[in-house]
Amino acid sequence: MHKIAMLGTGLIGRFYTMSLLKYRGKDQIVVACASGIEEAQKFANEFGIPRFTGDLAEAIRDPEVDTVIVALPNFLHKKAVLLAAEAGKAVLCTKPLGLNGAEALEMLEAVEKAGVFHGYLEDLVYTPKTLKALESTQKGALGKVLWARSRETHAGPHSDWFWNKKLSGGGAIVDMGCHCIEIARSFIGKGNRPLEVTCWADTQVHPIDAEDHSVGLVRYDNGAIGQFEVSWTFRGGMDLRDEISGTEGTIWLNHWLRTGFELFTNVGQGGYVAEKAEGDTGWMFPVGDEIGSLGYVEMFLDMFNSMDKGVAPREDFYDGYVVNCIIDACYKAAETKRWEPVEIVNWRGGEGDHSSASTLVDYNEEYFLIKEEVMPSGSKKLILKHKVSGEISQTILY
Ligand SMILES: NC(=O)c1ccc[n+]([C@@H]2O[C@H](COP(=O)([O-])OP(=O)(O)OC[C@H]3O[C@@H](n4cnc5c(N)ncnc54)[C@H](O)[C@@H]3O)[C@@H](O)[C@H]2O)c1
Repeated sequence: MHKIAMLGTGLIGRFYTMSLLKYRGKDQIVVACASGIEEAQKFANEFGIPRFTGDLAEAIRDPEVDTVIVALPNFLHKKAVLLAAEAGKAVLCTKPLGLNGAEALEMLEAVEKAGVFHGYLEDLVYTPKTLKALESTQKGALGKVLWARSRETHAGPHSDWFWNKKLSGGGAIVDMGCHCIEIARSFIGKGNRPLEVTCWADTQVHPIDAEDHSVGLVRYDNGAIGQFEVSWTFRGGMDLRDEISGTEGTIWLNHWLRTGFELFTNVGQGGYVAEKAEGDTGWMFPVGDEIGSLGYVEMFLDMFNSMDKGVAPREDFYDGYVVNCIIDACYKAAETKRWEPVEIVNWRGGEGDHSSASTLVDYNEEYFLIKEEVMPSGSKKLILKHKVSGEISQTILY
């Protein structure tokens, strides 16, 4: 059983608390911390948490606490993590790990030096659909993954600090690109080094300094491409989708909106429908198990089970650091409008899959088969490549 300090009782602190209390059930949040004492007290009362405070250091140093969960605005992650490392406590930090790669590296080095357990709370690689899709991919169902595309878009975040670049580290890229980048990296294989990125980013709608819309490409050393599409300008709710394609297969995942639960109401239901839902009348797309569908439940199972076994979780601070480095390169590329290198000072990747994606299929002694297709006429077309001359031709079988 772990005794937890929950730092931050806003949107994500609430989802984390609900996940911990409802599912693993073995762990106890013993202190809640928020910027205002009243907010902390209200939250503690609601969830039966014995202590509350407005002071981060007090919560972290609480003698009963062995695990610190950081659910604070981005600009406070580093401060909280360094205090937790100093206090010798296990620390689980929400995304993005740091405001940038340099901060994330400092945090990684601090937890490693202190020898404390560290987990990066990237819930979207833990959704039940994603876990199953990753398993199929790892078993070879897609062949070699060539392209992993991930999208997170909605009409913009719910608190002031997200919109202030100094406090958040940026706009939609740092807020949501971090999810998409880690999803793509998980499918492509974390042993493969992200080499360079190109990125478009703009401020299309909102009166802010940061980008509210961006599309980027991350090229890996095995030739695979990760693509992210993020927006704070998208209307109609939260759109979370992934598409993975490989030499032998394809996966499409739709995590939110239009996933099979559609409800029409003329009068509304009096309040919250689902995260980032834009209204509560007309056709709506509620989510049956919100914390399960977003991956929080499986994420905390992995975190605490790994902690108990003394092994690293699926996502740790090193992953958060790599993601921050990719994001840094994206911001640079958005400015220079060129491909920019991803600078990772201590790359620890394993062996990436450097095999060629080309699948040469013998047709006969003379030809390779490039493609075959049955045409609307019923005939079959074969596209062939001559093994010696390289010439490409077609044969039609009637
Ligand atoms: N899917 C996800 O993983 C996901 C989703 C949403 C947010 N987040 C991340 O979670 C973090 C928090 O986001 P949120 O949406 O919960 O924000 P929020 O604005 O809803 O809540 C922030 C919380 O931090 C507290 N806080 C602020 N300053 C503090 C201080 N000095 N001392 C103590 N408490 C302080 C506030 O009182 C509040 O409880 C961010 O890093 C965000 O990127 C992750």
